[in-house]
Amino acid sequence: MNVVVVNNFDRMSEEVAKIMQTQISRKPESVLGLATGSSPLCVYRLLGEYHERGLDFSQLTTFNLDEYVGLAPDHPQSYRYYMEENLFSKVNVNKAKTFVPNGVAEDLEEECRRYEDLIKQAGGIDLQILGIGTNAHIGFNEPGTEFGTITQVVDLAPSTIADNSRFFDSPEEVPTQAISMGIKSIMKAKNIVLMANGGSKADAIAAAVKGPVTTKVPASVLQLHPSVTFVVDQAAASKL
Ligand code: GLP
Repeated sequence: MNVVVVNNFDRMSEEVAKIMQTQISRKPESVLGLATGSSPLCVYRLLGEYHERGLDFSQLTTFNLDEYVGLAPDHPQSYRYYMEENLFSKVNVNKAKTFVPNGVAEDLEEECRRYEDLIKQAGGIDLQILGIGTNAHIGFNEPGTEFGTITQVVDLAPSTIADNSRFFDSPEEVPTQAISMGIKSIMKAKNIVLMANGGSKADAIAAAVKGPVTTKVPASVLQLHPSVTFVVDQAAASKL
């Protein structure tokens, strides 16, 4: 596990954006795994700038980690909407090759199977970008999730609902379930980059990097992956 500690959020974002730029330049038809949340916001802004300077996204395929159950793609807090707003509308990606689980599918179980199949058909993920929850979740794989899980419907932990309520008008509006790629789906990616900033992530980062590998700390499973880089700012690294 490679841990890169940088000064602040901006440096973290530059570091991760550069890793993505290198991947896209080396292999324009890469399959990228993408994350949402506040952590990658500036990464996506930088990718938009790289595109303006010539970086070509047209051959990429992208898979997002997760989506809230019950939020339609045009809901401002849905992750499809987030991706359109923050990245897809800023680059020349082929929209038909951008995948986000459908949180309003009639048959959610079928949607999970379909999503996992799509990843397989695309040849697997070359580079997976991750954030981390304050409870060390990756995607929406909450503490206790088995390491063998693939894309499934998950119940959000009360702490996750509380953390994410800042994006909604009230905590009651936060969906209680999501579709999330599983731990096994994430671990199949060839390369993984996890980013974290701020003191609120310090415990999760310390447990993920130094603690025992346990389902109680979902991100600790990454210690078992052959190609993982953590890019963390000083505050998030403060308990390492
Ligand atoms: C969210 C997402 C995760 C994300 C994490 C951290 O709930 N499901 O994929 O990495 O929580 O979010 P943030 O970057 O806003 O701290």
